[in-house]
Amino acid sequence: MSLNYTNKTINAFLKPKNIGSIKNPDALASVGNPVCGDQLSFSIRVKGDRIKDIKFLSFGCASNIATASVLTQQVKGMTIAEAKKYDWQKIVSILGGLPQQKVHCSMMAIEALQRVLAAYEQRLSLASDKKLTITKITKNKLSSKTMASKQKKVS
Ligand code: FES
Repeated sequence: MSLNYTNKTINAFLKPKNIGSIKNPDALASVGNPVCGDQLSFSIRVKGDRIKDIKFLSFGCASNIATASVLTQQVKGMTIAEAKKYDWQKIVSILGGLPQQKVHCSMMAIEALQRVLAAYEQRLSLASDKKLTITKITKNKLSSKTMASKQKKVS
């Protein structure tokens, strides 16, 4: 059985963009589909609140590679909030459609994107928790010093 791929999908598969992995990324995430066995991972670099760079590694089918390539081209430069709203229908539309049996490949790309964004936000939240802890510790030290100096004055 042959599938009807659009020329855009074939081109995106044959000449994918943003393939590889970012060295020391700000976040990294993978997804796998137990039914078809395909896997996809994204790594991102974020500057401010924008995706400065995004790369993918695919262990999957032609549609997996084509959809990941389109997705990375589209979300690069977006804010995290904008990228969170990006959906699989946009990928399919850019490719001019996908065979019905291959639509899940675009959904997998979105799932991998959501995971890498969540991983980034989790890392950011952990970092801000640490900062909060440092601030609390500093305040506690300051108030201990203040207390100590007040006690000296009293005695
Ligand atoms: Fe499963 Fe393409 S066949 S991701």
